[in-house]
Amino acid sequence: MGAVTIQHYGRAKQRGRKLRMITCYDATFARLVDQSSIDGVLVGDSLGNVLHGHPNTLGVTVDDIIYHTAMVSRAVERVHVVADMPFGSYQVSDESGRLNAVRLMKEGGAHAVKVEGGERVASLVRSLVDMGIPVMGHLGLTPQSVHAVGGYKVQGREDEAAERLLADALILQEAGAYSLVLEMVPAELSRRVSTALEIPTIGIGAGPDCDGQILVMYDFLGMDERFNPKFLKKYRNYAEDMRAAMDEYCADVSEGRFPGPEHSFS
Ligand code: KIV
Repeated sequence: MGAVTIQHYGRAKQRGRKLRMITCYDATFARLVDQSSIDGVLVGDSLGNVLHGHPNTLGVTVDDIIYHTAMVSRAVERVHVVADMPFGSYQVSDESGRLNAVRLMKEGGAHAVKVEGGERVASLVRSLVDMGIPVMGHLGLTPQSVHAVGGYKVQGREDEAAERLLADALILQEAGAYSLVLEMVPAELSRRVSTALEIPTIGIGAGPDCDGQILVMYDFLGMDERFNPKFLKKYRNYAEDMRAAMDEYCADVSEGRFPGPEHSFS
């Protein structure tokens, strides 16, 4: 199977084939993703929460994203790699956005970048696309604006906000974005946006009618029992499995069952 490109994204939408994405932050996980049917990985600024233990994504730096994107891109041959542009890396000026996006591609080995926001990032999206950098948009709940929107809440419930979101989606498409994440948006609104757009929508907490779905790797594997939002389906309970494995290892070491002769050198 050849490498997944942004053209695959467009064709998947035309053919009604759902896109499957997951976040990924290191080489070991990336190798496993590459062996699966997942179409694309996002090196998301969610790494601030799940890897770095921050309460939000605001502290994540361009260097952090480059560090993790490089690990992922070195490990994959097939899967499409998108690097998130973190807070502060593009909001101050389009020029800073262009310089940082170039770093994510050059130093991180990303195939595309993702930015949060609608009309206010349209000129940046246009200029990145002109430079040959594919851009994924992100509307609905945009976690980099968590303090402005007052928390992690469903967005676009009111008519005016829904119309604004639809207008922003069309603006991003017109600016050249090749796909669009919709986060925490009512299912009915996601359906409207997905129908109105030619580019694929990738949902998280945005119902079943998006053109694709994305989940955060650690959430999908059930690694944090404290995190149970309505939109999340945990495909495994790795928190339980990992604790059990560590308890087993501790008991084996304490009781002399590990290492055995098969693990020892003569
Ligand atoms: O940072 C991230 O992981 C994201 C996804 C939740 C879409 O932006």
